Parts: sequence; structure tokens; C-alpha cells
Amino acid sequence: MNDKGYIIFKMIKNLFNKTFIRKLYLKNRFVRSSTWMNMADGKGHLTDRLSDIYKELAKGQIGLIITGNAFIKEDERCTPGKIGIYSDSFIKEYQELTELVHKFESKIIMQIGYGGTQTNYNVGNRTIWGPSPVPEMSSGVLAKEISKKEISEIIKLYGHSAIRVKKANFDGIQIHAAHGYFLSQFLNPYHNQRNDEYGGDIKNRARIIFEIYDEIRGRVGKDFLISIKINCRDFVKKELTFKESLYVCKELGSMGIDAIEVSGGIQAAKELGSIRPFINSPKQEAYFKEYAIIIAEKIKTPVILVGGLRSIEVMENLLLNSKIKYFALSRPFIREPNLIERWIKGDRNKSKCISCNKCRTPLGNVCLYTQPTYFKSLPNEESKNTFPQNNKEFTK
Ligand SMILES: Cc1cc2nc3c(=O)[nH]c(=O)nc-3n(C[C@H](O)[C@H](O)[C@H](O)COP(=O)(O)O)c2cc1C
Repeated sequence: MNDKGYIIFKMIKNLFNKTFIRKLYLKNRFVRSSTWMNMADGKGHLTDRLSDIYKELAKGQIGLIITGNAFIKEDERCTPGKIGIYSDSFIKEYQELTELVHKFESKIIMQIGYGGTQTNYNVGNRTIWGPSPVPEMSSGVLAKEISKKEISEIIKLYGHSAIRVKKANFDGIQIHAAHGYFLSQFLNPYHNQRNDEYGGDIKNRARIIFEIYDEIRGRVGKDFLISIKINCRDFVKKELTFKESLYVCKELGSMGIDAIEVSGGIQAAKELGSIRPFINSPKQEAYFKEYAIIIAEKIKTPVILVGGLRSIEVMENLLLNSKIKYFALSRPFIREPNLIERWIKGDRNKSKCISCNKCRTPLGNVCLYTQPTYFKSLPNEESKNTFPQNNKEFTK
């Protein structure tokens, strides 16, 4: 392409373009990746504090918001303060939430999932299913092997939750199959050592995901957006490999899934494959891009890239030089819910998020740098872990 062609192409295709995923209109290509905020009440219901977060995100001009992971079974929760979707009692409050977000012309889909053994929360008081009875790699929590009858039950739970999501006027749903949680464990050969049709080769290990997709599609109809978040690799010794991940993406694409969010890593993958590494330079941004570029090349389904996206230039470059269509961010929106609005208004400086990973706190997930007083109010032991007293950026 010559220079003139490139400039015209750039004018046509940019991050602030309006696009459609299937029939869903999006006002730009920015996605708020699913983020557990630790602000729901003890039963998983919304609080004013949490609704306000979503209002701020929508006001901040994000095209598509993905909710924090919502739990689908009442007695199952891998972290406290999660939102739930396990009963019809949630429908009304989520209708209010979606109405609130739609007022700002943002779209919102709900991420749903069963957590499993990658947890330290309330362990011992509940049954925690996994594909095989092995200890989880970082928590050591032992799974109860899920039976085939229970697999059928859990698939139904996904289906029933999806009906609620649709009734609450969400614009779609996301299946969480990434990061070492239950469905991601089915894909992983260490966690999944089954000898039946749900274990063995990748076709079998992915079977539960294909069945959940079919169940949900059957419940919500062909026009409702269904997406999935999946690892490109687990980045541990016994892992879901990239080749296998690509196979699952291709299959889901041919089954009719509407979007695939490409992430990677599990909690035990501490180094390069970590879900949330530190990022100090543009080179470290977009740390799953090499995998997402290939996936987007090989399938027609729109690919959403997540992981360390911080600057417009990095995303623009990927948009223009690959087939990745959407860009999802999590931590930057904890720091600056109005980041996209800031960019739209012309301040193109990169996200202020420094990936310090201090945003997960026992009293709610907030940014240390925008809410320092809040951190000071944390009980002593907890604030010691999270409060970098000598950090120059904080003290200036
Ligand atoms: C506080 C916090 C909560 C998160 N909760 C979820 C979640 O509920 N579901 C999910 O798929 N990913 C979750 N993630 C992972 C993010 O969606 C994202 O994949 C990861 O943070 C990398 O993107 P980033 O560099 O833009 O933060 C969470 C991340 C953080 C920091």
C-alpha cells in the first residue's frame, strides 16, 4: 500500500470506529475486560458502589463493557464480593444496571462461570468440582471429580443463567474459559486426567465448552451475542498449548460463536505467562498479541485482544497490521474509568495504570493512586501489603 492509500485506510479503520459484532452496534473498539470488583453483597447482589462503577465506565465512553465474572451456582464462589446470576432474583437489578449503561450508548455483556479450585475462599465448607481429583497448582485445593451427571447439571446451570442474562437486557454473554478456572481446567491436561469422553485429546477436553455453547445458543437464540474468553496458552509445564487453543477457537468459530477474547496464563504461571504482569515499556504491552494475531488470521470470528494494552499507538498498530478487531483493558479502567473519553477529547497520553497490581484489596478493588485515603483506611496488616509508602508517584 502506498502512503496515500495507507492514510485513507487509517482514516477509515481506527480505534474509534463504529462497528457491529453480528447485530450489536459498538461505538468504538474499546472493551472493558471482565473485572471482579469485590463490591457485591454476600449473596452476589449489586451494591450502589458497584452500580456507580458501571455508570462511570459507561460515562467514560467505553464501547463494550464486560461485567465481572458472575457465579452460576449459589454455593460456589472462588472470590468474595462477586456478582451472582444463579437465580431469577437478580433479573430486576440487572435490568436497572443495563438501562443505566445503555443511557450512555455503551453496550454491556455479562461474563458467567463456575470458578473451581483456583481459590482460597471459603474452602472446606463447600464442594468444589474439577475435571479430576488433583490439587490446583497454586492454591493446592483438591477438586471433587465432577461426574457425567453433574456435568449435565452444570451445563444446564450455564443455560439457565444465560436466559436470565438475556431477560435482564444485557447485550450478550461471555463464557469464562480462561485463567485456570473450571473450564480452563478442562482444557488443561494436568487438571483434566479423565478417561471418559471429557478427557484425553483436545477434542474431548473441550467437549464441555462446546456443549455449554450449544446449550446457551439453544436458550438465547441466534441473534444474541455469545463470546468466550480463552487462554492462548496456560504457560505452565502441562498446559493447554497454542495449537490446541487454536483448534478450540476454530471449532467455536464454525459453531457460530460471535467473539473470542484471547488471554493467557493461570495463577501458577508467575513469569511471562502471568495474567497480569508488570508493564514498564510499550514493548511489554499486548503480551498475548503474537498468539491473537494468528488466531485472528485463521478464523473469521472477531478477536478481542486483552493483556497489558496501555497506549493508543500499540493498539492502532495492531488494528492496522493484523486482523484483531477489538481491544480489552482491565486495570487501566480501575485507575481511569474515563480513559476512552480522555483519548476522544484529544489527550492521547497512555493509560496512567502502572500495572502495580495493588488494585485487589479485601475491601473492594480500587486504584491506590486515585484513592489513597481508602488504602490508608485498610486494617494495618492489609495496608502494609498494598501501600507503597515510598513510591515517588504516590507521594508527589
Ligand atoms: C482486579 C481484577 C479482577 C479481575 N477479574 C476478572 C474476572 O472476573 N474475569 C476475567 O476473565 N478476568 C478478570 N481479570 C483479568 C482481566 O480481565 C485481564 O485479563 C487482565 O487484568 C489483563 O488485562 P490488563 O493488563 O488490561 O489489566 C481481573 C483482573 C483484575 C486486575
